This record gives sequence, structure tokens and C-alpha cells, in this order.
Amino acid sequence: MVNSQSWIPHEVDVERPNPARMYDYYLGGAHNFAADRELAEQALAVRPALARSARLNRRFLNRVVRYSSELGINQFLDLGSGIPTAGNVHHIAQQRDPTARIAYVDNESVAVAHSTELLAGNDYATITKADLKDVETVLSAPGIAGLLDFDQPIALLTVAVMHFIPDSEAPWEIFQRYHSALMPGSLLALSHCTVEGLAPEWTKVAELYKSSTTPVYPRDKAELERFFTGLQLVKPGIVDAIDWHPDEGEQETERSGFYAAVARV
Ligand SMILES: C[S@@+](CC[C@H](N)C(=O)[O-])C[C@H]1O[C@@H](n2cnc3c(N)ncnc32)[C@H](O)[C@@H]1O
Repeated sequence: MVNSQSWIPHEVDVERPNPARMYDYYLGGAHNFAADRELAEQALAVRPALARSARLNRRFLNRVVRYSSELGINQFLDLGSGIPTAGNVHHIAQQRDPTARIAYVDNESVAVAHSTELLAGNDYATITKADLKDVETVLSAPGIAGLLDFDQPIALLTVAVMHFIPDSEAPWEIFQRYHSALMPGSLLALSHCTVEGLAPEWTKVAELYKSSTTPVYPRDKAELERFFTGLQLVKPGIVDAIDWHPDEGEQETERSGFYAAVARV
């Protein structure tokens, strides 16, 4: 919980709940405000499993970073990277290769401020404040174009973020435009919330998010296939996040509410 007013970036409207800070709250983080916690608590009352879902989504992120590193990919473009918490991409990737390069992108001021603080002194990781929908702006930003070598494979991470982009803004086209910038050998990873085949409470949670700064648009598997048109999905394809390359001993049975998929360019 954030108490010190001086810490708050001046442009932040602390009165309006924001999904980045609600997600931070589900994960037990400290960078959220009363309005975020209030809406998060309403969502948790409807669907107590939400906090578990956030953790399972983070576990997918961790596994996909390790998977990329094991393939020899040591560059990461993390779109909608969020408020830093345990197991950030640079922690995992730089454990294996201290020179692994990580470019984080988020459009939420608290996420950017906290990332800036955390990355101070790290020569191989940057945070860029940008809207991922502005593909050219993102790709040409100094923290990205100046850090990543687009002539070498890159793992593009869109983890729990594309569901904030409505159909009217064609999220699959945005995804494909990032794809076009990547060399063969690169990976594109996606996790995305869904209500397909899940209890009606999940739909109610999505309804609650309408009062936040950024509504959420759950999608079903058929809609997510559209993101991967012309791409080859890594097995097992589009599955619940719990079923994407689970670690040995990981035995989750209840679905997470996130679909996850990875494709190789
Ligand atoms: C649910 S969090 C996920 C954080 C992290 N990727 C993870 O999975 O743990 C979604 C993040 O995406 C960011 N976000 C939402 N829409 C965005 C956009 N259009 N451009 C950049 N970031 C965005 C939010 O600010 C938030 O930090």
C-alpha cells in the first residue's frame, strides 16, 4: 500500500482504479491506492480465485522467459510489463546471462516510475513509457531501438495485456506489426484473459473493470488464433496458462482464466 504522497507521479489520478495497480494488489504488491484496492476487493468478492490467477499468469511469464533463454534468446521486449514484482523478466533472464537485454514498456505512470527506480544501474534493461498500440513509436524509442538488436532473435512478451485492447483497435494487427519487426528465431508470447467455459463470475469481473481506467475484453480461443495467423505455434498451442510447459511437480487442476500461447518466427 502506498502512503507517501510525494512518491506519486503527479499525472496519476489516484481516485480512478487502474488495472495495473489492481493487479499489483492481487499479487500482494505495495504500489496501489485506495480506489484500486476498493475495486480489486469487489472483484475478489465476486471471484476469490483472481489472486491465484494473477500468480499463475506470472508463473507462465517466468516459464516463457526461461524457455526463451534455453533457446539462446537473450533479448526481450516486454509490452505491458506492469509494476515490478517478484520474478521480473530481467531477474530471470540475467540470472542465466548477465548481458541479456530487456526492454520494458508500459503506459501506466506508477509502473514506469517503479521500474525506473528498480532498473537504475542496470545497463542492459530499460523502461519506456509508451502505448503499445503506437508500434512505430515503441520500436523507435531510445530505450528499445538503442538497446535491442532487431537483427537478432527477440522474445516479444505480451503477457496479460492484449485484453486491454478492444476489437475496434484491432489488437491482432498490432501483434502482427510487432511480428513483422522480428527476425527468424524470435518468439512471440501471449497470455490473455478469457471467460470461455468458465463460471459466470468471471464475466462479472470483466463487467467490474468497466469502471476502471482501462476496461478488459476477455476473448475465446478462436479469437486468439487470429493473433497467430501465419505463425507456427509452439506445442501445445493455445492452452490455459497452467498447461503451457508446466514445471515438473506443478500440478494445477483448476483453470487460471488466462489462455497462453507462444509462436516461433
Ligand atoms: C495485468 S498487468 C500485466 C503485467 C505483466 N505483463 C504480467 O503479466 O505480470 C497489464 C499491464 O499492461 C499495461 N497496459 C495496458 N494497456 C497498455 C497499453 N496500451 N500500452 C502499454 N501498456 C499497457 C498496464 O498498465 C499494466 O501494467
